[in-house]
Amino acid sequence: MKDQYAVIGNPIEHSKSPWIHAKFAAQTGEPVEYGRILGPLGGFEREVRQFIASGGRGMNVTVPFKLDAHAFADSLSPRAAAAGAVNTLAFGPDGVRGDNTDGVGLVRDIEVNLGVSLKGARILLLGAGGAARGVVLPIFDRAPAALTIVNRTAAKAHQLVDQFAQNAADCGVRFSGGGADSGGIVDSGCYDVIVNATAGSLDAALPDCDDGAFGANTLAYDMMYGAQPTVFMQHATKLGARASDGLGMLVEQAAESFFIWRGVRPDGGAVLRELRQMLAAKA
Ligand code: ATR
Repeated sequence: MKDQYAVIGNPIEHSKSPWIHAKFAAQTGEPVEYGRILGPLGGFEREVRQFIASGGRGMNVTVPFKLDAHAFADSLSPRAAAAGAVNTLAFGPDGVRGDNTDGVGLVRDIEVNLGVSLKGARILLLGAGGAARGVVLPIFDRAPAALTIVNRTAAKAHQLVDQFAQNAADCGVRFSGGGADSGGIVDSGCYDVIVNATAGSLDAALPDCDDGAFGANTLAYDMMYGAQPTVFMQHATKLGARASDGLGMLVEQAAESFFIWRGVRPDGGAVLRELRQMLAAKA
């Protein structure tokens, strides 16, 4: 019998994680079976306990349960503690370990799949919610020159700057933040990388951002993905920047989870290419 894993969320039927992990298992020869669980709202803990009792080895956790998973874990990786959210649970003899692979997934997609080094880069992060918080430390780890956070609500950007100021200093990163409407772009001029971590793309809203931030050498990265380029990607392309959706982040965060569970690193790039072809064929 194969080792059992699953993704839990609500809704869950459109999750691509089972497909991605089946590809990783085939690629690496690991005996992994990966399913999906619709978690009832308010019933996260019961579902996870049931899965553990039935022999489950680990889980991915998606919307809306990442905070529940953070609270449920017996111990947390430093990056999950900093993110305040957990997307990966590993069940072992020492209890439930919570981790967060989203930030590493973003960084690997940008650097490995898209070929843009973050070392010495000037980076603009749009948004200051959970998605943004989860990527700050993994970005610092890549030694950029500067990270600027701009959010619709300035106070939340300032909170993130306060939370991570010491980490930025330790890594030698210039770190600032502000509101989109109050001169938030402290570091003006165009950026090497702009990451859209707002929930705006969900309802086709373009986050406020100075057009001057986009240049011909800018990578504009939207954490969202869909059948069509997001409004943020379309906007960036119009301004002459290179644009990417977040499909590669999805694959790479899964690859990092697989690595945590199995100690084997799958080739995310190959699976990403196959996933893109499959989605293009369906569109
Ligand atoms: P997530 O976990 O996806 O980050 P969240 O914690 O609710 O979700 O954060 C959502 C982020 O998207 C916030 O930065 C939010 O801005 P506010 O802090 O001002 O609410 C941002 N956001 C959501 N809708 C937006 C929109 N239409 N334009 C710009 N920013 C938006």
